[in-house]
Amino acid sequence: YDEDSGVAGALNGSETKKLPQAIIIGVKKGGTRALLEFLRLHPDIRAVGAEPHFFDRNYEKGLEWYRFPSGPLQKALLLYLGDCEHNCSDIEAPLPPHASMSQELMPKTEEGQLTMEKTPSYFVTKEVPARIHAMSKDTKLIVVVRDPVTRAISDYTQTRSKKPDIPSFENLTFKNITANLIDTSWSAVQIGMYARHLEQWLQFFPMSQLLFVSGERLISDPAGEMARVQHFLGLRREVTHKHFHFNPTKGFPCLKRPESNSKPHCLGKTKGRTHPNIHPDVIQRLREFYKPFNKKFYYMTGHDFGWD
Ligand code: A3P
Repeated sequence: YDEDSGVAGALNGSETKKLPQAIIIGVKKGGTRALLEFLRLHPDIRAVGAEPHFFDRNYEKGLEWYRFPSGPLQKALLLYLGDCEHNCSDIEAPLPPHASMSQELMPKTEEGQLTMEKTPSYFVTKEVPARIHAMSKDTKLIVVVRDPVTRAISDYTQTRSKKPDIPSFENLTFKNITANLIDTSWSAVQIGMYARHLEQWLQFFPMSQLLFVSGERLISDPAGEMARVQHFLGLRREVTHKHFHFNPTKGFPCLKRPESNSKPHCLGKTKGRTHPNIHPDVIQRLREFYKPFNKKFYYMTGHDFGWD
């Protein structure tokens, strides 16, 4: 009997409903969709396609709502997808044509399979570390990070695609342009202060439970970065260079299934947008601003991401 759906025999003997053992917690515009799609190629991973936003926006609904693979969350997500006809901007990954929605969204897991989700706002939401820790202190956490300056421009580009009338990037960056003061309350700037956000997580989780994926390397060497991720998750190295094909027109790696002759599948139009040209002085000022945060972040993670 499946409590959530109320359907008897909904799960067969070897399948179970699980909370996620690993979560992609950030960062927005880091390359989180690419990473999730790459991970979904792994036979031992079942991942939710949409962003559940459980630990930031839906926490009061309780873990049963969140629990995979079926139940209220699934219904909510189906509604959300149903809404896509009118408001598709947040639906990033189209469902594969053959998959039935419910299978694809909330897959049941078999023994040895990991359940995952991604919600990039978790990394910067104060309440989330304690909440994930309360679910399970063993949760593995993955953060895709990217040069905070390009990340900010990417973030701005996304917002502008939805609201074309917003002020210029330059205007939003500065609180007071003559005093050269950066507006750290603007989320596009704030999200990139990685060291600050990481401190919050380290109050609850040891560094060994966090993996930082380079958003830049995920593009230039997806197989290499995926080897690190699979190792971190304790999985066999199933996703390899055979799965990637660099598409020069798109300028990004696209996915292929080595066993079939089908065309490589690239992420959608909203991934890999053209960025506006930003005045070099503004870029320079932002670089200076982020320098100490980056330095601290490299020190904390033991890894120089090469942004400076
Ligand atoms: P841009 O659109 O600014 O280039 P997220 O999925 O976290 O929103 O991140 C979006 C970013 O993922 C894109 O930002 C793009 O640079 C990056 N990305 C990484 N790998 C990609 C891939 N294989 N295809 C498309 N975009 C990819």
